[in-house]
Amino acid sequence: MQKITAAITAVGGYVPEYKLTNAELEKMVDTTDEWIRTRTGIEERRILKGEGLATSDMVVPAVEELCRKRGIQPEEIDCLIVATVTPDMVFPATANLVCERIGAKNAWGFDLSAACSGFLYGLSTGSMFIESGRYKKVVVVGADKMSAIIDYADRATCIIFGDGAGAVLLEPDTEGYGIQDCFLKSDGSGAPYLHMKAGGSLHPATIATVTNHMHYAYQEGKTVFKFAVTEMADAAYQIMTRNNLSDQDIAWLVPHQANKRIIDATADRMGLPAEKVMINIQRYGNTTAGTIPLCLWDYEQKLKKGDNIVLAAFGGGFTWGSVLVKWAYDPK
Ligand SMILES: CC(C)(COP(=O)(O)OP(=O)(O)OC[C@H]1O[C@@H](n2cnc3c(N)ncnc32)[C@H](O)[C@@H]1OP(=O)(O)O)[C@@H](O)C(=O)NCCC(=O)NCCS
Repeated sequence: MQKITAAITAVGGYVPEYKLTNAELEKMVDTTDEWIRTRTGIEERRILKGEGLATSDMVVPAVEELCRKRGIQPEEIDCLIVATVTPDMVFPATANLVCERIGAKNAWGFDLSAACSGFLYGLSTGSMFIESGRYKKVVVVGADKMSAIIDYADRATCIIFGDGAGAVLLEPDTEGYGIQDCFLKSDGSGAPYLHMKAGGSLHPATIATVTNHMHYAYQEGKTVFKFAVTEMADAAYQIMTRNNLSDQDIAWLVPHQANKRIIDATADRMGLPAEKVMINIQRYGNTTAGTIPLCLWDYEQKLKKGDNIVLAAFGGGFTWGSVLVKWAYDPK
């Protein structure tokens, strides 16, 4: 029997219209455009404004675009995985809500929580469903409405995060294109440095949790930075070398967009020049699970069939890892 690999056959994305610029943040908290640019590389981020809008409102257009581009109907989707830390509700899963809204009547699905590494965890999971031969069309989404859990009075976190959604379609391939290898890690001892204190079963919502700002993302930036800069770079390097690839063999690095300095360190470790690194942090900030598929969405027209691309991420948990992909199609 021929070996089945999971090829990425289409990409979709969505970012909200509203741009929250550094200039606007200067009016909200004690910060400067210069500080934000030099420390993070971010110039603006997108925010999903409006009553009643949630993560699913970004996932729906991203998946609809993906279906249009691939020329498939939502009924053909077998499984939909939404990586997110900002689901519409604790339950049901955002994946269920999205399937209903797009008319993916034959799909099952679930949400996956691995913070900024969520898309890579989802890609690894989805690729196994394809490789098993059981499913033919699996959609993997990375999406977060970070503005729902950010304290816009906290200058250490509100400058970093934005909202957005990206999605890929996985389909079986017998010529060796698609997901080649996954290197995924987690370490729960990192939880104190990046988490949301309340809203789960440990601290259900009370007046006190709200008053004490416990429903916002809490981050000790310096510690997270230290781990991220080492582990993300190491994961990217490991997947390259254990697949006997050199910097010359890699067409693109697709790094999680958390901080330009972490991205640069990862590229340096792999020996890659800036021209081979996908970057859109300046426009979107850190959209958590959304960053990597949004990079693929932005750069899709530059990707060629056969390109070796390394995806790498680090996030809350701690979670981190890398995925090696052989790109399956030329620009259209
Ligand atoms: C958050 C982050 C940008 C902060 O940058 P940093 O260089 O580590 O800055 P520090 O936290 O050490 O703060 C340095 C100083 O700037 C101040 N500062 C923090 N945020 C500021 C802001 N928005 N504007 C101006 N000053 C700020 C701090 O209060 C501190 O002041 P002090 O020296 O008087 O105490 C950086 O730590 C980071 O990117 N961390 C990793 C984030 C990440 O990857 N998170 C997600 C994982 S997916």
